Amino acid sequence: MGELILGIETSCDETAAALVRGGTEVLSSAVQSQVDVHRRFGGVVPEIASRHHIANIVPVVLQAVDAAGASLRDIEVVAVTNRPGLVGALLVGVSLAKGLAYALRRPLVAVNHLHAHVYANFLAHPHIELPAVCLVVSGGHTSLAYMPAHGVFEVMGETRDDAAGEAFDKVARFLGLGYPGGPAIEEAARGGAPGRYRLPRVLLDPQEYEFSFSGLKTATVNLWRRLQSEGTASVNDLAAEFQAALVDVLVEKTVHAARHTGVRTVLLAGGVAANSRLREALAERAAASGLQLFYPPLSLCTDNAAMVAACAHHLYLRGETAGLDVNAHPAVKTL
Ligand code: KG4
Ligand code: ZN
Repeated sequence: MGELILGIETSCDETAAALVRGGTEVLSSAVQSQVDVHRRFGGVVPEIASRHHIANIVPVVLQAVDAAGASLRDIEVVAVTNRPGLVGALLVGVSLAKGLAYALRRPLVAVNHLHAHVYANFLAHPHIELPAVCLVVSGGHTSLAYMPAHGVFEVMGETRDDAAGEAFDKVARFLGLGYPGGPAIEEAARGGAPGRYRLPRVLLDPQEYEFSFSGLKTATVNLWRRLQSEGTASVNDLAAEFQAALVDVLVEKTVHAARHTGVRTVLLAGGVAANSRLREALAERAAASGLQLFYPPLSLCTDNAAMVAACAHHLYLRGETAGLDVNAHPAVKTL
């Protein structure tokens, strides 16, 4: 029986709350997605996201408390994502978390959203051995980090331009495949063959861990225009090649980082970790290199609050609580 943590997540377009005991036992996880609201804009509109969070946050928290068969008084720690993300969206969760922590006289823990994504792995696999190399791939971030111990992340590389999920979203939008782009491209790619068209694998310096996806995006757009003018365009084949090119780069850098640091464990996380080609390709390369790969179940890949509570557990154990003057931070360069 560990402590009961309420996790709150409002960094982008999901309003989420969860009750997690001892960092691993998920008693409830409520997620109110705004994906249908933002679909017609082809991306998340920050002010609209904030307004939906403010309307939904209290009902979502109460839903999580009810679903766990608990009452607010049972909560022992209040945890909230306070960075990075859309600042107006983060402020909604941070404000409510402060109010609850104050009213309930409970400690408050402020969580980095990217660290939380990694902790989705520990919910599904509590006995993962550290150190590990973590690949966090989401709509806003692409980060490779060395994780020597719980709650400690040393950034090895990030993206210089577009995040992996952002590249999926932008290319899907250009190809008219819908929003969010990751699942739409994965679906289209299922009906196509990678390799029929050829797109670049942009490794930059293969010894380094920085990523760049804007060149791949531009190459995809240019190729599509040329194919259309030639009358030979297959959106399925192009989606398959785009997905393969992006996945190849992620896999190559991650396996290289694991070898370089000498770890045996690789943790995949973030919304793009839902991609089945990425999961399969990384699993194959990891196995061939004697590495153990973990990724979260699909429901925990995209934004949720159970991962926030799981991450907060380790901060709380170390006494890393936040004051009631804690703020929201839109951009944190470091993982
Ligand atoms: O982690 P997440 O829910 O939100 C952020 O923190 O950004 O990630 C959302 C991103 C979007 O860009 C979405 O297109 C991508 O994850 N995504 C996928 C898949 N499912 C979601 N990308 C590739 N394949 C998928 N199956
Ligand atoms: Zn996320």
